[in-house]
Amino acid sequence: MRLLAPLLLLGFSLAAQEPVDFTKQIAPILVQRCIECHGPEDQEGDLRLDAKEHVFIKGDEDFWSVLPEEPDDSELIRRLGLDLDDEELMPARGEPLTAEQRELFRRWVAEGAKWPVEGDDFIASELAAQVIPKITFDLPELSDAQRAKVDAAIQAMRSMGGVVQRIAADTDAVEVNLSLLRDKVTDETLRQLEVLAPVLVWLNASRTNIGEGAGVHLAKLTQLRRLNLSGTSVGDRGIAGVEGLQQLEYLNVYGTQVGDAGLASIAALPALKQLYLWQSKATQSGVAKHQDALAGVQVDLGDYVEARLDAARQEIADREARNTPVNELCPVSGTKVDPKFFVLHEDRRIAFCCGKCKAKFEKDPAAFAAKLPSAEARSDAEASPINDKCPVSGAAVDAAHTVTHEGRLVGFCCGKCKAKFSKDPKPFLAKLPPKK
Ligand code: HEC
Repeated sequence: MRLLAPLLLLGFSLAAQEPVDFTKQIAPILVQRCIECHGPEDQEGDLRLDAKEHVFIKGDEDFWSVLPEEPDDSELIRRLGLDLDDEELMPARGEPLTAEQRELFRRWVAEGAKWPVEGDDFIASELAAQVIPKITFDLPELSDAQRAKVDAAIQAMRSMGGVVQRIAADTDAVEVNLSLLRDKVTDETLRQLEVLAPVLVWLNASRTNIGEGAGVHLAKLTQLRRLNLSGTSVGDRGIAGVEGLQQLEYLNVYGTQVGDAGLASIAALPALKQLYLWQSKATQSGVAKHQDALAGVQVDLGDYVEARLDAARQEIADREARNTPVNELCPVSGTKVDPKFFVLHEDRRIAFCCGKCKAKFEKDPAAFAAKLPSAEARSDAEASPINDKCPVSGAAVDAAHTVTHEGRLVGFCCGKCKAKFSKDPKPFLAKLPPKK
């Protein structure tokens, strides 16, 4: 009975839930997390998500990634909820969407995937805005004396090997990259940068030898928009220097000593949009403490990165396993194999001691079949699909998209077809090679 009250409460809040507002709740996620690969520039997987007409293409209903009112059958919803080690997980870059964001997408589709004109307008204006701030910087006017000092400092940086570049032709704004100089760059180098403060908008000091003393100098670089301190020993004291940087939009403290105390300085940044914290000393609960201040910030704690690295390692191991012969002894001579001599026989890599044995085997494999390890012993990872045409689309199979169906490995051209087949294989079975 103790459970009843919270359950009732939950029921009540669900009933009272407002429908998802595409323009306010979905479109911003598309802009931030999807459109770089599924928009005007790039259409990965032949998918554009930047306007209604591209998502719901007339006459192409069978291939829509979003099926209104059918979240369980929508490829887009499936992609968002995959395991971390699944290469089909979207977004294909960065952190997966949060559980709340995924739930928003699911509800949006379940409620009919409404995409009002305002949604298109919002996305278009966001994309237009993304292009402009990169080039126009509102910088203080320089006096002639200041300009001369700035130019001298740029020369000095360059002669020590730093990369100093003007961001665009119509601005004084410069980008400084010191990361290639590694240990040569110290807190003292940052002091020399202070002269550049009126024009310095991007600074990359990653993997350099700067530390806690960097803070006082960083505090003077008031025009900074982007700051990369990753891989340095900057910690909570050093990062306190960024606190007054009113324009800072991007901050990378990946692999630094910055911890939860430093987050307080970071959370105070009024213009911050992106924050990278992977392998810093900052914790999830530290981030949660500054949740309100960081509400508009894309925070990347990178927990998922480890999982993705593990998956990549596994894939390499699998691939190596596939390239290893199934037998240690030559089926023809019975002596140790030399992996150089091999054939692919019934999807298995079979090795021989020499070219002669290989030729013998190829002439009449059946005669030597008994000498090979039994076929059942192999795992799916070592097998290749039984079909070379996708049973759903008829296009060529991509071995990255497979499922095991009734003991046979079936391949598809893409994840969408795989999903269709997995849901209901029957209509496509006739397209598969007959069972032996
Ligand atoms: C860094 C690039 C990148 C980002 C960001 C990205 N994707 Fe993808 N996406 C891809 C690539 C590459 C493919 C094609 C390969 C594949 O099918 O996995 C793809 C395929 C897809 C597909 C399958 C296409 C189809 O219908 O067959 C869907 C759906 C999809 N992405 C949705 C999303 C959504 C939603 C987001 C944002 C939450 C997103 N993607 C973000 C790169 C990206």
